[in-house]
Amino acid sequence: MKVTVIGSGYVGLVTATCLAEYGNDVLCLDVDVSKIELLNQGGVPIYEPGLEEMIKRNRAASRLRFTSNIAESVAHGTIQFIAVGTPPNEDGSADLQYVVAAANHIGRHMNTYKVIVNKSTVPVGTGDKVRAVIAAQLTLRGLNASFAVVANPEFLKEGAAIDDFMRPDRIVMGCEDETASDLLHALYAPFVRNHDRILLMDIRSAEMTKYAANAMLATRISLMNELANLAEILGADIELVRKGIGADPRIGYHFLYAGVGYGGSCFPKDVQALQRTANENGIQLRVLAAVEHANLAQKSVIIHKIKQRFAGNLAGMHFALWGLAFKPNTDDMRDAPSRVLIEYLLAQGATIAAYDPVAMIEAQRVMPHATGLRYGEGPQAVLKQADALVVMTEWKAFRSPDFAEMKALLSQAIIFDGRNLYEPQYLAKQGFEYYPIGREQIYPALIARALMTEPSEQALNLA
Ligand code: NAD
Ligand code: UDX
Repeated sequence: MKVTVIGSGYVGLVTATCLAEYGNDVLCLDVDVSKIELLNQGGVPIYEPGLEEMIKRNRAASRLRFTSNIAESVAHGTIQFIAVGTPPNEDGSADLQYVVAAANHIGRHMNTYKVIVNKSTVPVGTGDKVRAVIAAQLTLRGLNASFAVVANPEFLKEGAAIDDFMRPDRIVMGCEDETASDLLHALYAPFVRNHDRILLMDIRSAEMTKYAANAMLATRISLMNELANLAEILGADIELVRKGIGADPRIGYHFLYAGVGYGGSCFPKDVQALQRTANENGIQLRVLAAVEHANLAQKSVIIHKIKQRFAGNLAGMHFALWGLAFKPNTDDMRDAPSRVLIEYLLAQGATIAAYDPVAMIEAQRVMPHATGLRYGEGPQAVLKQADALVVMTEWKAFRSPDFAEMKALLSQAIIFDGRNLYEPQYLAKQGFEYYPIGREQIYPALIARALMTEPSEQALNLA
């Protein structure tokens, strides 16, 4: 099938490449000319495991091409996926300017029947908006071409995006047009060969499903983070509690890890956007407001522990940092909790030596003015003469380090672990002062009580 994918970011590139993998003829558009040039030279603008080889294979077979020519891209695919960004506006609502621009492009250039499939995460009602924008362009051109609009939100996770796309647990399809539905069922058939995983519904329900899924997952994480903070005070171990509750199939084991707060390009903005939608419709989502607040506080918990351990005076101190990306297996730095920590430590007059297996170039791009932050060549290389190590991302490479070597390199054997990578008793035996999240506190607990008792902006203010 001839398919166009508008937007060559995390979702667009993965969608285009996976569709090409099953033999479709895919043209991927981006208005960022430098991105298209890079892709046409064989480069890949993002890090996603397996993506580079897959792009290479499909380009070589001429099933996957990249362009910045809008007219060409609209002419190419009967199916036009929109996979552009929907970043937050200042008030938390989703900024739809890129979606609207893509719809305008389609309306200006289409001459035959098109199925416009929205993969971007968009507020309920955007399908109607996209339809209106295209219809207005067609009217201006005096053209009566027919088209269908479909909501097909994407559920892939960065770091596991190819697997998620190739073996989806469901494909949500908001579609009210029979021809479009037949075409998309045919397109997705190879991805759901063994199970019928396509959930056909109306457009509004499909649009809402995406926000509901992210809201539910973010809620789980924030609740676990708050339970972890309480476990620390009570002398309980959140890891044991996690196993204890996960065994209940109604709860399940996935997505129950306490940590430094959720980040990334989806949860923070989607939790905000859904609340905004509710507010615009005259109701409040009180649970989600609390989730957002708890996450903001959680990003500061590790900072408060560092502050308490060093009696508030961090000027002149030097920290090693393992992990910059918001999660492992990605170079995405959008809303990464590490950025909050870095900003704070540097503002206090501390210096940082950081290592991340893939996100250092992106970190440099998003924090170009972070003087006092330097990057090292490997996990051990950044430990030299650091007053403490802070772990912010659970990369596999950090899981079984040589503790004896670490101890020799660090000037103080102190680890603040935001991802609970190690066993507290074992670390104590190795001679480390170890501060995990919600686990056994062998050393006097460094508890960010202010954050837990005082849910005010003041308590979150780290200065
Ligand atoms: P991204 O920022 O990585 O990529 C968006 C791309 O679209 C950019 O390259 C940009 O230049 C391009 N673009 C903008 N306007 C364009 C236009 N008019 N024509 C062509 N290209 C245009 O974004 P992303 O992370 O891929 O997210 C895309 C959408 O998918 C968002 O709505 C997001 O919420 C949603 N989503 C993201 C993920 C994820 O893990 N990143 C997962 C599921 C859903
Ligand atoms: C998320 C959704 O999972 C995905 O379905 C959607 O399409 C896009 O948004 P992503 O942001 O790529 O995917 O990563 P995810 O694995 O969901 O992690 C999000 C954040 O939650 C990360 O900061 C991660 O560290 C944190 N997290 C996740 C936890 O703190 N604990 C957990 O148990 C799981």
